[in-house]
Amino acid sequence: MTIPKTFHIKSFGCQMNVYDGARMAELLESEGMAAAQSGEADLVVLNTCHIRERAAEKVYSDIGRLKRDDGSRPMIAVAGCVAQAEGAEIPRRAPSVDIVVGPQAYHRLPELIAEAGGGGRGLDMALAAETKFGALPPRRRQGPSAFLTVQEGCDKFCTYCVVPYTRGAEISRGWSAIVDEAKALIDMGAREITLLGQNVNAWRGEDPAGRAQGLDGLIRALDVLPGLERIRYTTSHPADMTDGLIEAHRDVAKLMPFLHLPVQSGNDRILKAMNRSHSNASYRAIIDRARDARPDIAISGDFIVGFPGESDAEFEDTLKIIEAVNYAQAYSFKYSPRPGTPAAAMDEQVAPTLMDERLQRLQALIERQQYAFNQASVGLRTQILIERQGRKPGQKLGKSPWLQSVHVTTEAPIGAIVDIEIASAGPHSLGGAELIQAAA
Ligand code: SAH
Ligand code: SF4
Ligand code: F3S
Repeated sequence: MTIPKTFHIKSFGCQMNVYDGARMAELLESEGMAAAQSGEADLVVLNTCHIRERAAEKVYSDIGRLKRDDGSRPMIAVAGCVAQAEGAEIPRRAPSVDIVVGPQAYHRLPELIAEAGGGGRGLDMALAAETKFGALPPRRRQGPSAFLTVQEGCDKFCTYCVVPYTRGAEISRGWSAIVDEAKALIDMGAREITLLGQNVNAWRGEDPAGRAQGLDGLIRALDVLPGLERIRYTTSHPADMTDGLIEAHRDVAKLMPFLHLPVQSGNDRILKAMNRSHSNASYRAIIDRARDARPDIAISGDFIVGFPGESDAEFEDTLKIIEAVNYAQAYSFKYSPRPGTPAAAMDEQVAPTLMDERLQRLQALIERQQYAFNQASVGLRTQILIERQGRKPGQKLGKSPWLQSVHVTTEAPIGAIVDIEIASAGPHSLGGAELIQAAA
């Protein structure tokens, strides 16, 4: 197989994979390769997700689809969390795979490509994130809203979850590496930075003066960078929701009024069986404190229905916590047993049809709350960050501080922050009218 000149990266899963996909692209470009459409690329990287069975199984059908009409195929690399979890098992099941590279080892892609080009097979599933960040080339242009990974891995070991195995232990990137990367992104046009981590608020570090800092310290350091207008962070864990971070929502104007804080279930017995280190009450106390600090904060969450042993009454507790918290949006999933996790071996797996029914009820409730949240913003004067062209001529798509998509007709370029009045609300997006400042 010859050394590829063009590449295509397909990322699945969470935002950390999107970030990794962008960094892989930068790396391959720095090696002289050019991005191409999937059907034409010499190298296809599938940047995979292992979180649920369907996500993980998708990889194999995708690999099959890469065969071209003339019977040839591109060089194929499987990256991401399936690569980490299944490793050498992947080429055994799908012999056309040339490279398997885990999420902490993709800085070695150029060497692995060379090995595959030489007729070998490149495998690297090392789990040392520090090495990766040090070895990657500088950032390239990312658009007005950029991701920045500050923390990786998870030590929480929720009984259903593969992330501690696929991403390794919690590590925090160093303060100056993060601030330097933020500055580079801002120089290239980023107006908004979303700090990323599997447990982003578990970030711990030291500032240049040697003082211990948490995520709030980092947010305050980014707050003073000229050119940056908006700061977000995701995904946070209830156990790491410090007073300092909650206070940052009160004090730091650039920190957007949005908190994604997964709860998974509203029932304390299930939360315990999940090994979540919070209860229904302690979660709700955090939400109350966040709302005290920033009354307009939008709350988002993650939910799992049908965890092993979940009874009807226990599921009702999840609906009740949703009613009580009132979410602006949420992600919800049917429990999926994952190999090697404690929950997969538990008795009393819930029947799929029951899970379907529960998921539908939960999603209908969330949908109603999201629509109500959007409707309540009609008439508000606020600002949006223009992220891309809309579908209709002259129309652009921006984001509100509460992460709602807003369609606006405006001359303002991508990357501009525009004053608008929210004029209409749908279940999933808003319409806005630009406010033209009267001349003084
Ligand atoms: N670290 C984050 C979540 C990362 S995974 C946190 O703890 O909040 C993203 C979401 O996927 C989880 O919040 C959970 O809702 C869902 N998830 C994880 N494992 C799952 C499984 N085995 N089955 C179904 N959903 C799962
Ligand atoms: Fe998975 Fe729990 Fe870690 Fe989140 S905190 S990544 S759900 S083990
Ligand atoms: Fe999936 Fe890995 Fe993210 S399993 S959700 S891509 S951390």
